[in-house]
Amino acid sequence: MGWDIQNLFMFIVVAAAVVFVVVEGALVYTVLRYRRRPGQVPGPPVGRHGNTRLEIGWTLLPVLVLAVVAVPTVGTIFATAAPAPRNAVQVQVIGHQWWWEFRYPGLRIVTANELHLPVGRTANFALSSDDVIHSFWVPALGGKRDMFPNHVNNIWFTPSTVGDYPAQCAEFCGESHGYMQMRVVVQTTADFDAWVRDQQGVGATVVTGDAHRGAALFAQGTCAGCHAIAGTTAVGNVGPNLTHVGSRSAIGGQLLDNTPANLALWVANSPSAKPGSHMPAQALSKRDLASIVAYLRSLK
Ligand code: CUA
Repeated sequence: MGWDIQNLFMFIVVAAAVVFVVVEGALVYTVLRYRRRPGQVPGPPVGRHGNTRLEIGWTLLPVLVLAVVAVPTVGTIFATAAPAPRNAVQVQVIGHQWWWEFRYPGLRIVTANELHLPVGRTANFALSSDDVIHSFWVPALGGKRDMFPNHVNNIWFTPSTVGDYPAQCAEFCGESHGYMQMRVVVQTTADFDAWVRDQQGVGATVVTGDAHRGAALFAQGTCAGCHAIAGTTAVGNVGPNLTHVGSRSAIGGQLLDNTPANLALWVANSPSAKPGSHMPAQALSKRDLASIVAYLRSLK
């Protein structure tokens, strides 16, 4: 799919352009042809019955135009609702206020806000929501589909070009809806496989120094109640899985670049950056905050 929608869109744009030119042309012609000339006395127009042939014409023409648009549209709706090819990469996408969770059940990967896909291979998405209605939309790659709680919608497309594609939740879902963004990374098969191997491992095997102190704070403090980090006792599933948070380019649903300063700001007081953020501000000493940031940075 994807191209089906694009081709249909271009067809309708052209059809609409033809209608626009014909209708506006007739309008401009009429305005010029029947304008008031010098010497004409203004007065009420002569009343006359309508033109039967014209009336039938402009009733039938829109019916015809709608039929021409409707037939390929309905065909595309059925084509895009068909099941994805069997060898598709399966991804569960779960919407949260205001971030994206991605699960690759076949690959045993759970990540957030950064969706990796191999080029040239169909990806099939099972869409749902953890709270309110969201909408999955990667403008450059495919269609748009709503995500509901307690219901799974499917959408699939085949990315054809390696690249980095921004995407955005397309259904108003609360005060930070505008910040519910993600990044779609379309990679060569080799790069994607390397990413998969990285993600399947634990984030950090040997943690030393400040990061070691941060790991203990993370596990004992409130962080572990909401976040999971593979290979540790942190198994919360309220917030994003942080197993490889250090490898992501941005945090807070693509809101901030993943730098130590931004990470510190985010951990200390995320609602100050993202209104309504469900992660409460943390009362941490400077040293504790720095340790936790060092730990998160180490989770590549
Ligand atoms: Cu989620 Cu808008």
